[in-house]
Amino acid sequence: MCGIIGCVGRDERTVETLVHGLEKLEYRGYDSAGIGVVGDGLSVSKTAGEIEALSQKLSEQSLAGTVGIGHTRWSTHGPPTDENAHPHQDCTGRVAVVHNGIIENYQELREELTAAGHRFSSDTDTEVVPHLIEDALEAGAEPEAAFRSAIDRIDGSYAIGALIEGTEALFAARNDSPLVVGLGLDAEGDGSAELTGDGPYFIASDVPAFRDYTARVIYLEDGEFARLDGGVSVTDSDGIPVEKSVETITWDAEETGKSGYDHYMLKEIHEQPRALRQCLSGRIDELGGAVDIEEVGDLSPTGVQFVACGTSYHAGLYAAQLFNQAGVPAQAFLASEYASSPPPVGDDLVVGITQSGETADTLSALREAANRGAETLAVTNTVGSTAARECDHALYIRSGPEIGVAATKTFAGQLAALNLLSLATVEGGRSRRAVVPALRDLSGDIQHILDDSAASEVAEIYADSNAYFFIGRRYQFPVALEGALKLKEISYEHAEGFAAGELKHGPLALVTPNTPVFAIAIGDGDAARKTVGNIKEVEARGAPVVAVTDGRNDAAMYADYVLEVPETHPRAAALLANVQLQLLAYHIANDLGRPIDKPRNLAKSVTVE
Ligand code: F6R
Repeated sequence: MCGIIGCVGRDERTVETLVHGLEKLEYRGYDSAGIGVVGDGLSVSKTAGEIEALSQKLSEQSLAGTVGIGHTRWSTHGPPTDENAHPHQDCTGRVAVVHNGIIENYQELREELTAAGHRFSSDTDTEVVPHLIEDALEAGAEPEAAFRSAIDRIDGSYAIGALIEGTEALFAARNDSPLVVGLGLDAEGDGSAELTGDGPYFIASDVPAFRDYTARVIYLEDGEFARLDGGVSVTDSDGIPVEKSVETITWDAEETGKSGYDHYMLKEIHEQPRALRQCLSGRIDELGGAVDIEEVGDLSPTGVQFVACGTSYHAGLYAAQLFNQAGVPAQAFLASEYASSPPPVGDDLVVGITQSGETADTLSALREAANRGAETLAVTNTVGSTAARECDHALYIRSGPEIGVAATKTFAGQLAALNLLSLATVEGGRSRRAVVPALRDLSGDIQHILDDSAASEVAEIYADSNAYFFIGRRYQFPVALEGALKLKEISYEHAEGFAAGELKHGPLALVTPNTPVFAIAIGDGDAARKTVGNIKEVEARGAPVVAVTDGRNDAAMYADYVLEVPETHPRAAALLANVQLQLLAYHIANDLGRPIDKPRNLAKSVTVE
């Protein structure tokens, strides 16, 4: 969703650094952008539309300063207009504020401030903040105290950056919305509350925004304030200095580039072999079949609840099957519906699956689980994310940065990590011996698909269909759901996934010669045999069928086209079938000319409930 970048100490490169940071945050989804800088005075430039439009505007203005903030906005309060874009200012133009999150008491604050004579120029909740700062400054408060007093007045979720004219400092605060501080190479200090040196220093909602300049970060916690000028000081809500540890990001800046691919999504699909090697590295013993995940210690849950959203929820549905098969009752819940789930009991573990680690619905479900007394585990890609920090345990999927809005390699990483979790905590030696070799072979098997897939040809044939249906059973059912989600989010075409057996209970009425059905049939067991039966049902109604199969059943016989996957364990085959469906979605969206990495209305990290 919205993105924040701020910098201090970049001197004449301040504007360039802010715009570059905003470009790096584009992946989060946005509909307007803006920057503000403090130099001789405070100046702001902002616009509805893309960063290109902002750059165009900046080429006609002359903004300069040594301290700056920038923002990409994903509309919540008010449409995407120039006025609603951030930064927002007070009546005097001396204060500029960028904000992610939602200020819940903004209506009453706005009424109070309007009655006191403040003039508002946007529909946003954010604009109350600069006016509150203005009030405090007028009452004689120093800039930092004015900022703190404004933050004290607001309720809700926020990551905020503020500039105040006449002060070459950047003020920041967070509550329930991520904010990370970047420490330039010259910054000295080893975790004390006060870091000194020439900097430069940065704030951002996500590390890629400043990763080109530094790998050293400190993560702010809820309720903390940061002041960045000739150093960084972090304090709590009472102004008491807080000791922070400096962490080093392990991925390279190049990993956030496109490396010659047309889209991040395609690049990230192709990164799956490496992402899976990283996920498994040091965690499986390929010879003996042992699985050892340091992060989860000796967890031995008697039941598991998975909470997640979207693609991550599909990973939860898959993982619940792993645990159920091992005799440990498990269920996956949509995080936003977790309030109506049965409470965890005994030694139940509640697992939040979230690549970003910042999804508001998932965080809220995990907090609910903790309140209900459950032990919690975050399965996440993002080191230092809120989910990782708040849960009792964090299992990292190690996929590397994912920039495309559509989750691809992180879904693969989630499935692999959840296999490890199940093998390490509840499965016996027999399944380990069967599954570990299949996990080990995943990277090679996926590479094989990437090299030989017929998905682009199949996409070309079906790119102008009325709708697309995906069916699968058991481990392939979540993959069918995921195949449909991927296609609909990037192609804007109607796509639905169903449990193959459910088709005849209603959805079959939708099937026509212009609705291709993608059927995942793996192995030669009962599930595949029954799925072949379902294929025959749709074929009899004239629908084209594309079988995603390892060839060990009759699916290909009844299909118009086949997307092949190598033979492997059905658990691993789910990841392979998924790669074919990712490629299919990508090529259909590409044939239709869609903006693949930035689908309309969607955001990478959904930080509102
Ligand atoms: C789909 C997609 C979303 C996310 C969902 C949860 O491609 O990316 O459905 O899976 O918003 O996000 P995380 O995993 O960050 O909690």
